[in-house]
Amino acid sequence: MAMLANKSVIVTGGLGALGRVVVSELAAQGARVAVLDCSARPDAGRAEVVYDGVDLCNASATAKAMESIAAQLGGIYGLVNVAGGFRYEPISEGTLDTWDLMYETNLRSCAAACLSVLPYLRSNGSGRIVNIGAASAQRATCGLGAYAASKAGVARLTESLSDELKDQSITVNAVLPSVIDTPANRLQMSGADFTRWVSPTSVAHLVAFLLSDQSIDITGALVPIVGRM
Ligand SMILES: NC(=O)c1ccc[n+]([C@@H]2O[C@H](COP(=O)([O-])OP(=O)(O)OC[C@H]3O[C@@H](n4cnc5c(N)ncnc54)[C@H](OP(=O)(O)O)[C@@H]3O)[C@@H](O)[C@H]2O)c1
Repeated sequence: MAMLANKSVIVTGGLGALGRVVVSELAAQGARVAVLDCSARPDAGRAEVVYDGVDLCNASATAKAMESIAAQLGGIYGLVNVAGGFRYEPISEGTLDTWDLMYETNLRSCAAACLSVLPYLRSNGSGRIVNIGAASAQRATCGLGAYAASKAGVARLTESLSDELKDQSITVNAVLPSVIDTPANRLQMSGADFTRWVSPTSVAHLVAFLLSDQSIDITGALVPIVGRM
């Protein structure tokens, strides 16, 4: 039987490069997938329900979208927080606006989605949250300060929420990719050896496992997935 048969899962950022591959893999594993994303793209891939144009930093819009998704899918079992963004900016050359942007895009969005989904997971009596963090949150190099700080926030959110929910059969984990092989990264780093990067499919397989029944004893984990970087 498929690993995620009939489990209802929301993927935030599900219209982005990684999100689309995650949606496709979860659907292939039998999940009923809903997407929440602030952008709008004509082809929504294998998602059953799509709410585009929703900014996760807007708590009431996020809560409203989750309510509609829960009604359409008959509840919510899992949340995968893929939504996020990146800025390369050396600290001495940058502005505080970048810190605000990275905080909002990566951490506030993740916290808002977690807060809105909790009532649904609690009402199931079990559930899964998987956050996409970043390997650079563990040790940041030049230009990654604001981004890595926001993703370090995602790691701490993951740890704290997992501890809070450990007696409620709700697991909370994060995966920490290095560089993912996306079209945007190939464009930005055209001279790099793409074969050393992490394939989006590898990340999607890890996410699927962390959503599955097999991962019941794993919570609060920050799982690096770094390819050959
Ligand atoms: N690409 C990498 O090498 C890499 C490495 C480590 C970690 N990650 C993480 O992996 C995740 C996906 O990366 P990606 O390369 O697939 O990025 P992406 O293609 O830009 O996809 C991210 C998606 O999230 C959406 N989004 C951003 N902020 C949002 C908000 N406040 N509310 C709702 N939706 C929002 C984006 O919409 P817009 O396009 O309209 O902004 C986009 O559709 C991110 O969290 C990223 O930090 C990526």
